[in-house]
Amino acid sequence: MYQPVQLSEDIFYIGVNDRRTELFENMWPLPRGVAYNSYLINDGKVALLDTVEIGQVEKFLKKIHAVIGDKPVDYLVINHMEPDHAGSVNIIRQLYPDMKIVGNKKTLPMVEGFFGITENLVEVKEGDELDLGSHKLQFFLAPMVHWPETMVTYEQTQKILFSADAFGSFGTLDGGVFDDEMDFSWFHDEMRRYYSNIVGKYGSPVQKALEKLSALDIKIIAATHGPIIRSHIPEVLKMYDDWSSHKTQEGVVVAFASMYGNTEEMAEVTARAIAEQGIRDIRIYDVSKTHSSYIISDIFKYKALVLASPTYSNELHPNMEALVNKLKHMAVKDHYLGVLGSFTWAGTAAKRLKEFGEELKWEIIGTPVEEKHALKKQKYDECRDLGEAIASRLKADR
Ligand code: FEO
Repeated sequence: MYQPVQLSEDIFYIGVNDRRTELFENMWPLPRGVAYNSYLINDGKVALLDTVEIGQVEKFLKKIHAVIGDKPVDYLVINHMEPDHAGSVNIIRQLYPDMKIVGNKKTLPMVEGFFGITENLVEVKEGDELDLGSHKLQFFLAPMVHWPETMVTYEQTQKILFSADAFGSFGTLDGGVFDDEMDFSWFHDEMRRYYSNIVGKYGSPVQKALEKLSALDIKIIAATHGPIIRSHIPEVLKMYDDWSSHKTQEGVVVAFASMYGNTEEMAEVTARAIAEQGIRDIRIYDVSKTHSSYIISDIFKYKALVLASPTYSNELHPNMEALVNKLKHMAVKDHYLGVLGSFTWAGTAAKRLKEFGEELKWEIIGTPVEEKHALKKQKYDECRDLGEAIASRLKADR
């Protein structure tokens, strides 16, 4: 019934779309859903590359059957054990009891830990090869892109990189499966939101993986999420290189928490001064309204950040605290930071935000502005001064 989607001779996409799950990892909003990609090589030996999230297993099994009919699966290569990909491993093993599960020395204990599977396991090391007949797979470890066991598999004859989470994206595959079957630019923001929030903490391992992969001739990147890439490979490699090395572009994210609008007003005044100095890309976010994943994604894109928070019970506003904690957890690097705060009886927020920037070794621009009660002339002018200083700093990099 299914018409399998072919990457090349004998190699098929058999992934599924998930439009029902609200939160990826029960944290990250999925307004455009998410795709769990899996691949099947129907050669002398049949190899399955990763599975799908367990809730999608029925569709997945139909797709396997559409490609191989009653032939058994000989190998299941597990590039990544996170359950959005490994969720169906146990069912697949039950259907194909003689199937060998291929992973590295960090994968196999997870296979036992999650599923109790201890037999028919094949451990592979860096550079090992697996001959399927006419197709040959080679394995490269990519630890921490996104988990310690993560590896990628390179199909040598067709030059396809099965890249696990690397180069993946949020968003379902809506008819088009390959990047040249769609307006690929529509995926850029969701690719960056996926990278920054899911893998962004591990910039250095991603850099190491990119260096390793640069030795390979890659014609197709087949990730476990998002479009299969065959027409935008240099562009996508550059995106990953920029994001993982914390390269940003000119622009400012202004993220504020505000209970009654006073701190928001300071953010607006600052943003206006930045714009008047010729900075075009300014994104203002209310941290109580916009999910942090979108704010963090734009922080990975733009060089400067203004954080604005009222003091709340002698601390940061809790929603600003949550954003700042995530940025610390991700160890985001190389940003300019402007600080705004407000308070009613005792000010703490501006001090905390400045300390946060110093902890991440960001460059603090100008002097933090902190107002008591409503915004008045002196602090209004200081907000403008801060905005102008941020714009000047950005323009000095041109
Ligand atoms: Fe898509 Fe780290 O799992």
